[in-house]
Amino acid sequence: MYPVAIEGPRLVLRELRPDDVESVAKITADAVALEHMPLDYMDHDEAEGYVTQLIEAAEDPSRFVYALAIARPIDDQLLGIAQLSVESFTHRRAELGYLVCPEYWGQGFGREAAALLGNFGFDHLGLARIWAVTAVENTNSARLLDALGFEREGTLRRHLLIHGGWHDAYLYALVRRVSPN
Ligand SMILES: CC(C)(COP(=O)(O)OP(=O)(O)OC[C@H]1O[C@@H](n2cnc3c(N)ncnc32)[C@H](O)[C@@H]1OP(=O)(O)O)[C@@H](O)C(=O)NCCC(=O)NCCS
Repeated sequence: MYPVAIEGPRLVLRELRPDDVESVAKITADAVALEHMPLDYMDHDEAEGYVTQLIEAAEDPSRFVYALAIARPIDDQLLGIAQLSVESFTHRRAELGYLVCPEYWGQGFGREAAALLGNFGFDHLGLARIWAVTAVENTNSARLLDALGFEREGTLRRHLLIHGGWHDAYLYALVRRVSPN
C-alpha cells in the first residue's frame, strides 16, 4: 500500500521524503534519542542513505516496511519516525518501532503515532498481532506500550546489542481477534 497518510488529532503520519533528511539526521546523531536503540549513530550521509533506503522500501510493490514520518500538521515539521515491519503476511504479525526527537518528548506524540500506526496495521493490513521489544532500561517506551494496552509477554535475555553492550529486552504485544480467512 503506497502512499500512506494517516491523520490523528495532533499529528500526521506520512511517507518519508528526500527533504526529511535534515530532520532525520538530527535525530540519528542524538545520543539521548538513541540511548536505548540498537541503531548506530549516523552522520549526514548515512542518514541520507537510511532515508533513501526507507523510501525505496515504501515504493516496493511487495511492501512490508511502513516507516512513516511523524509530522506536525501545521508546518509539516518531522518530529520522528514510526515503523511497522510486517514479519509475516501469512501469520499476520508485525513489529512496531518508534523514535521521536527528544525536544518533543513527553507531549504524547510518540503514543499517538504508535496508536495510529498500530490501528492502521490492524484495520488496513489485516494484522492479528503487533509486537515490540524494548530494552528493559527504556522506561519511556515501556510506559508508552503499557498506555496503549500492549501486554508484556516476557523478558528476552541479551536480546539487544546497543552501542556495544548487551541488553535484556521486554517483549510486548497487542493482539486482535481476526478471522483466519
Ligand atoms: C519512547 C518515545 C517514542 C516516547 O515518545 P514521546 O513522544 O515522549 O511519548 P509520550 O509523550 O507518549 O511519552 C511516553 C512516556 O515517556 C515519558 N516521558 C517522555 N519524555 C519524558 C521526559 N523527558 N522525562 C520524563 N519522562 C518522559 C512520559 O512521561 C510517558 O509516560 P507516561 O505517559 O506514563 O507519563 C521516546 O522516548 C523516544 O523516541 N525514545 C527513543 C527511541 C526509543 O527508545 N524507541 C523505542 C524503541 S522500540
